[in-house]
Amino acid sequence: MTLLALETSCDETSAAVVRNGVVLSNVVSSQIKLHAEYGGVVPELAAREHLKNLLPVAQSALHDAGVSARELDAVAATQGPGLAIALLVGFKAGQAVAFALNKPFIGINHHEAHLYSPWIQRADAAPGTAKPTRLISGFAHFQPSVSLIVSGGHTLLVHIESELRHRVLGGTIDDAAGECFDKTGKLMGLAYPAGPIIDRLAAGGNPAAHDFPRPLLHDANDDFSFSGLKTSVRYFIRDHPALLDDPQKLRDLCASIQAAIVEVLVKKTIRAAKREGVRCVTASGGVSCNSRLRHELEQACQRHGLTLRLAEKGLCTDNAAMIGILAERKLLAKAPLPPLDAEVKPGWALA
Ligand code: KG4
Ligand code: ZN
Repeated sequence: MTLLALETSCDETSAAVVRNGVVLSNVVSSQIKLHAEYGGVVPELAAREHLKNLLPVAQSALHDAGVSARELDAVAATQGPGLAIALLVGFKAGQAVAFALNKPFIGINHHEAHLYSPWIQRADAAPGTAKPTRLISGFAHFQPSVSLIVSGGHTLLVHIESELRHRVLGGTIDDAAGECFDKTGKLMGLAYPAGPIIDRLAAGGNPAAHDFPRPLLHDANDDFSFSGLKTSVRYFIRDHPALLDDPQKLRDLCASIQAAIVEVLVKKTIRAAKREGVRCVTASGGVSCNSRLRHELEQACQRHGLTLRLAEKGLCTDNAAMIGILAERKLLAKAPLPPLDAEVKPGWALA
C-alpha cells in the first residue's frame, strides 16, 4: 500500500509518503519564525501559510519518495484536534486528492498519531552500503505500554492495551507541559517557543537552585496541572527581576523550572506504568525532545525494569510520517472511513 499523509493541525505544514510500513519521505515546513514575533501561533496566519505551502510540500514528498500521484492507494490527513482553519487546509486537500484519484481517504486523530509515533523506528542501513537510515513501522515489536504525550497543547497519560486499543488515564487540568515551558520562557523574555531554549540554557544551570512546586505529584490520579508552577515563576521573577540580567542565574532558573516539570512527568508516568502492570513506557510530542525528560525517563525506566521507547527526535514535533504510519495501520485493520462530507474535528479528544 502506498499512502500520502498530510498534517496541518497547527504551525507545521507536512506531507509524507508511506509504503508498506516504510516512510519513503517526510517533508516538514515549519512556521515557527512567522509566529515568533506574536509570541504564539496566530490561527489566521497559520492557515494562510498552510494554503501557500501545502501543495509544494506535498509535491516534494512525492518527489523525494519517487512516487507519482497515480501510484497512491490511499490518502490520509489530520482531522483533529487542532486549529479549525489550519486543519481545514490539509483535510480538505486530502479529501479532494482521494476523490480525484477515486481512492480511500482516512481522517486521523493528531494525538493518536503522536501516541503511536514511538513505534516508528530507525532502520539501520546494511553495513557497507551507502544507503541512509530509514524510518519504518515498529509495530512488529509492539507491546502494551503506558504512554506520555507531551506537547504545546496537551499532556496526556494513556494506557495502550493492544495495537489501536487504548484508554486515557489522565491529562492536564489546565496548562500543558509545553505551554508551561513557553509561558515561563515568555516571563523570562525568551522567544517563542521557549521550550527548546530553556532546554539549552538549562544544560549550564543548577536544577536545585530554586525549589518550584511539583503540582499534583502526590495526588493519586494521573492528572497534571502546570498553571500553579507558572504563577510561582511569575512571582519569583517579580521579586527578583535583576536575576534575568545575570546569564548564570538565568541558566539556574531555566534548569530549576525544567527540573520541576520533568520530575512530575517522569514520576507520574512511572507510577502509572507500575500500577497498570505494563513492561513498557513510551513518550512522544514536542516536549519529549527535552533532554532532561529523555534522560530522567531513561534512568527511571532502568531502575524499575521497564523498557523505554522514545519517539525519534525528528518525529517528536508535528509531522506527517506519524499520520501516515497510523493511517496505514488503520486501513489494514479495516477502520471505518469518514464519509465524503466529513468535517474537521478541532476539539477531537482522545478517548
Ligand atoms: O507537538 P508539538 O510540535 O506541537 C503541538 O502539538 O503542540 O509541540 C510543541 C511544544 C512547544 O510547547 C515547545 O516549546 C515544546 O513542544 N518543545 C520543547 C522542546 N522542544 C519542543 N519543550 C521542552 N524542551 C524541548 N527541547
Ligand atoms: Zn502535536
